[in-house]
Amino acid sequence: MHPDWLQIDRDHVWHPYSNLGSDAPVFAIASANGVRLRLEDGRELIDGMASWWCAIHGYNHPVLNQAINNQLQRMAHVMFGGLTHEPGARLAQRLVELTPDPLQSVFFSDSGSVAVEVAMKMAMQYWIGREQPTRQRFITLRHGYHGDTLGAMSVCDPVTGMHSMFAGVLPQQVFVDAPTCPFGGTADRHAIDAMREALNTHQDQIAAVILEPIVQGAGGMRFYSAEYLSQVRMLCNEFDVLLIADEIATGFGRTGRLFACEHAGISPDIMCVGKSLTGGYLTLAATLTTNVVAQVIASGEPGIFMHGPTFMANPLACATALASIDLLLESPWQQRIAQIEQGLEQGLAPCREMAHVKDVRVLGAIGVVELEEPVNMAVAQPMFVDAGVWVRPFGRLVYLMPAYVMDEDDVCTLTTAVVNVVRGLE
Ligand SMILES: Cc1ncc(COP(=O)(O)O)c(C=O)c1O
Repeated sequence: MHPDWLQIDRDHVWHPYSNLGSDAPVFAIASANGVRLRLEDGRELIDGMASWWCAIHGYNHPVLNQAINNQLQRMAHVMFGGLTHEPGARLAQRLVELTPDPLQSVFFSDSGSVAVEVAMKMAMQYWIGREQPTRQRFITLRHGYHGDTLGAMSVCDPVTGMHSMFAGVLPQQVFVDAPTCPFGGTADRHAIDAMREALNTHQDQIAAVILEPIVQGAGGMRFYSAEYLSQVRMLCNEFDVLLIADEIATGFGRTGRLFACEHAGISPDIMCVGKSLTGGYLTLAATLTTNVVAQVIASGEPGIFMHGPTFMANPLACATALASIDLLLESPWQQRIAQIEQGLEQGLAPCREMAHVKDVRVLGAIGVVELEEPVNMAVAQPMFVDAGVWVRPFGRLVYLMPAYVMDEDDVCTLTTAVVNVVRGLE
């Protein structure tokens, strides 16, 4: 039995990357608790997606609920222009403490895409401050994904980044081949040479290199070597170009380190975080930068940083983020992620034997099965739901990124469902 509002949704509501009136199934959800989603029809699904990397502690967590309730008694929101508040200041302090040392200042925004826009504007204003205003372009990697707003779109892979139809209106950035060196391997010479060549050719136009450290997410779910990342850091130093690390997907433990940059022991000049920042409760993102970048921006025209969203540093979101970070750091999160990694590795292994599977890869709490052909979502999605799990493939990728609190049995149920559904798609 479908609730009556499902038809309203069908008639009037856009979903991500969808069209109105499509036959693609949209499941009505009634509630979510722990790692389980409850559909309106009473079925319960084990959630393999953590709501796109976000819900790292599971849903309806009493500590996060309490943090929101406490903050709600004081204020839900207040403008950040000319006013400030304790959750915003304390969260900034926490982020400064947790991220690499040179990152000292925090700009809050309301989504990952906006955090990327802010990072790009910081880099552009930095070069205006250094009186090199021609440096307004970015070097980025193929297979990258940084968001859906215009600036962010311009640094997404022109093909796999989902925005190819807008190519004509986007700023023209410089794309270099992504590394093919797997995580744990040595840096790929070709990719390093390509980066050097791009920096050499375009140096006087380049504001920054922007990349997703270690894991390229929505542009292909690819993992690459830490050595490549550290060599890109060195190249940015050599060519005097800023490095922006987009940790929106990887931040807060997903790859087994708190931030993926730690695998390479590097510090970017600008870092974006979002997604799991609030444990998946509220929409909040942040862009951090160094005192050097902040001071150069302040010293250049017009002497201020030109950005200021209405919901900047929303107090409910900041209070929840503080509680989520404490919850994470007080938990044995590294052990949990190592255990999930092992469960994903073992559970997804049978897919390696399948002729229509191109690759199976696991890193931290991320498991990916890459098929030779795109997955037929109309077929696959109901198969997963019938198997009692929530898994949402895209393109040729079937992937899992569970909450860190998921136990071994649930991870096993998830991977078994993936193996069975992938086998059924042959
Ligand atoms: C690496 C990365 N950057 C930026 C974004 C955009 O974030 P949002 O969807 O919150 O705008 C995403 C979202 O998937 C992402 O994975």
